[in-house]
Amino acid sequence: ERQGKRRHVTADSSDRKLELAFPSTSQTSQSKPVPFQQPVSLITFSYTPSRKLEFNNSALRYYVNPPRNANLRHGYERWIKRPEEKGRIDGLLRATSKLRNDMNAGASKGVDWIRSIGVVSWRGVMTKILTAPYEDRDSWEMNVMAIDGTMYFEEHLSDAKLVEKEDMAPHHRLQSYYGYSFESWCGSSKPEMPENLEGQPPGWGGDVDTNVQWCSVVKTKLGDTRMVIGGEVDCVRNAFTGQTSDFVELKTSIAIRGPQDEARFEKKLLKFYFQSFLLGVPEIIVGFRTPSGQLNTIQLFKTAQIPRMVRGKPNAWDPTTCFAWGQQFFAFLKSVIHPSAEPIAEQQGNVTSALRPQVWRVKFEPRVGVSVSLLGDAGVSEIQAGEDRVGFLPRWYWDEVQT
Ligand code: A3P
Ligand code: MG
Ligand code: MG
Repeated sequence: ERQGKRRHVTADSSDRKLELAFPSTSQTSQSKPVPFQQPVSLITFSYTPSRKLEFNNSALRYYVNPPRNANLRHGYERWIKRPEEKGRIDGLLRATSKLRNDMNAGASKGVDWIRSIGVVSWRGVMTKILTAPYEDRDSWEMNVMAIDGTMYFEEHLSDAKLVEKEDMAPHHRLQSYYGYSFESWCGSSKPEMPENLEGQPPGWGGDVDTNVQWCSVVKTKLGDTRMVIGGEVDCVRNAFTGQTSDFVELKTSIAIRGPQDEARFEKKLLKFYFQSFLLGVPEIIVGFRTPSGQLNTIQLFKTAQIPRMVRGKPNAWDPTTCFAWGQQFFAFLKSVIHPSAEPIAEQQGNVTSALRPQVWRVKFEPRVGVSVSLLGDAGVSEIQAGEDRVGFLPRWYWDEVQT
């Protein structure tokens, strides 16, 4: 039946909702595992306190052991919180553009580099896509555009959802701060322990400013889809040699007191795993804390070993199910968005569509699957929010890839 739906994709699919349900687990286990290539770091960049993107490592932090019993509430009053924003991929496109231009300036090989990439997305979006088969609580929406066979993804956050995120309940806000504070206790701008800051407890790496981020852009491949994925990297071990093998992800979690906590934690490991795995981050350091934010213990998890740790447990999950789903998801989207062998191919000579590319909305419902629909003018202008964009892409990027 699903095949039937796919074949009905035509140029006027705007009034049709295209759906993809999860593959049944038996289907998944019967088929060959979908390979995922080890991510390779292409470039890193930093966001400054004024949220300027710079192609340097000014925001890179080195891992240091946090003090015992560190207070994760420390500095809460001084937290400079980056405002919630729409899930734009502008920063990632800046990096993509730089890579392409650098390649063009060097060898001739770079010219068509972007055309061989099937997917460009932030890591958070990719994590949501791949973990969808096990997500039983949160729905999500994304916007997707395709240029020359490359699909671009952004998370779709409506204005209402943005306001909701910004108006976080005070205890949620504090819990969220614990995670950032842990990063400060574990990070130093030099490879050694941070110097004691005046008036601050020993080991404190500096007040939290969530505008500041260090990001890495990697290339990888799921099945036969090449991908460029960008995301924040919390810190590195010892020295940064340009490889993902130095990367460290930091996490906090409530200390485990019983089987129920343990099951909950194993479920969280799914997100930890994909978040890290997608950027090639080999180590995750988890700070277990009390409900009121006192750090108890830290534990190192090797990313590659996490799937084995949860196998056979009550909340077990299996990454091969996620990869099989991911493969299906991208193939489905491709067939909807640019079904080259389908009647829509006639549309390629259509001037209007060439000038105004289509934006697709992907909606995910827990336990159900995803549906895709074409956005109308009102929907597109809502996501543009008065900015100079083609679809949701910044105009400068659009102009650049036309040449
Ligand atoms: P934890 O990692 O300890 O949960 P990240 O782990 O991705 O590096 O993010 C750092 C911190 O940002 C998280 O710490 C968490 O506190 C906060 N954070 C991330 N995503 C969040 C979300 N959707 N809502 C609230 N806080 C979030
Ligand atoms: Mg982070
Ligand atoms: Mg983290």
